[in-house]
Amino acid sequence: MAVPADHPAYPVGLRLAGRRVVVLGGGQVAQRRLPALIAAGADIVLVSPTATPSVEAMAEAGEIRWERRPYARGDLADAWYALVATPDARANAAASAEAEQYRVWCVRSDDADRATAWTPATGRSEGVTVAVLTSAAGGRDPRRTAAIRDAVVAGLSDGTLVAPHHRERTAGVALVGGGPGDPDLITVRGRRLLAEADVVIADRLGPRDLLAELPPHVEVIDAAKIPYGRFMAQEAINNALIEHAKAGKAVVRLKGGDPFVFGRGMEEAQALAEAGIACTVVPGISSSISVPGAAGIPVTHRGVAHEFTVVSGHVAPDDPRSLVDWSALGALRGTLVVLMGVDKIGAIADALIRHGKAPSTPVALVQEGTTAAQRRVDATLETVAATARAEDVRPPAVVVIGDVVGVGEHH
Ligand SMILES: C[S@@+](CC[C@H](N)C(=O)[O-])C[C@H]1O[C@@H](n2cnc3c(N)ncnc32)[C@H](O)[C@@H]1O
Repeated sequence: MAVPADHPAYPVGLRLAGRRVVVLGGGQVAQRRLPALIAAGADIVLVSPTATPSVEAMAEAGEIRWERRPYARGDLADAWYALVATPDARANAAASAEAEQYRVWCVRSDDADRATAWTPATGRSEGVTVAVLTSAAGGRDPRRTAAIRDAVVAGLSDGTLVAPHHRERTAGVALVGGGPGDPDLITVRGRRLLAEADVVIADRLGPRDLLAELPPHVEVIDAAKIPYGRFMAQEAINNALIEHAKAGKAVVRLKGGDPFVFGRGMEEAQALAEAGIACTVVPGISSSISVPGAAGIPVTHRGVAHEFTVVSGHVAPDDPRSLVDWSALGALRGTLVVLMGVDKIGAIADALIRHGKAPSTPVALVQEGTTAAQRRVDATLETVAATARAEDVRPPAVVVIGDVVGVGEHH
């Protein structure tokens, strides 16, 4: 029986935990719908002679029970809910008729007009489930439905959908890894916290463009310009974080890359903990991996490098303050990624050659990776100091040393 099409669907949230759900057909439709049914805790029986590899894996993992056979009358008798999606139109029609007889709400992939239920486009953000159905009167338009869902989920995730005064404010400080520089390379959580901030204390590196988008009431502080008087610069930053948080502000400490990769993130987290201030840490995409990648260099590659080591080149190899074991690095076969290494690149290359690396080992310097100004300069350990000088390579740059540097060129 066709359901009259001029009424909108009645939305409802089914609580399917422990309840029998029958899925007929193990193809793409089942593959797309099963994860949400599994997440809902449903007792799922799949009836289908075949299944896609992903659906098969769900059966192997015990998430669904799979009966390898075609639909047979009686399959829907004890079901609470059914998804009918076999390639056989007659089987679909028969199963739908059975669902009707047993009063089982039934979704049909082949004939939505005859189905008794429709699956909304769904998404989740921060504990909210968004489900979008376009009404029958407006015509069903799956693309539009999905686009609305995407817009709502994106708006909730990045904070643009909820008006500021209705937002649940994030108390304390968020240490947010902003990624290497491209504003698209911050995490969704970082973006949302930034949209909710009253005060943002930002480094020079990282997604500076995002700061320009902040509303005018947000106080943006350049971490490098905080006057520090009798304190160390880092102490002054810690104090500023504490001060603003104590004033009840939502504070974001926006850092380049990941907060815990040469980012002093833990020093700030500790200072906040000592001051009794709540602190969340949001990881970021570190330049150590993403900047080589943006320049076409994989830090590992099958048959070329099974390890990559990230080191700071802030102090020269012969500096007594250095904690890096350059002789061990010289003996490694894998990729070496040096951050903050432009100024000391000559001494670093010399140390590696002295400790066993071939002078011909390929080196790439990637300056301002993932930004409009990105550039890559190639050299070898032997030539890198002169090349970097001649090409006027400046920080911020990531130095990649090893055979992976040449890998992308073969494609
Ligand atoms: C103090 S460290 C911070 C690293 C950061 N926490 C991360 O995970 O990327 C700064 C160094 O990271 C590297 N760096 C950061 N962003 C970069 C970018 N967009 N392009 C090239 N190098 C970058 C440079 O080596 C720079 O000197």
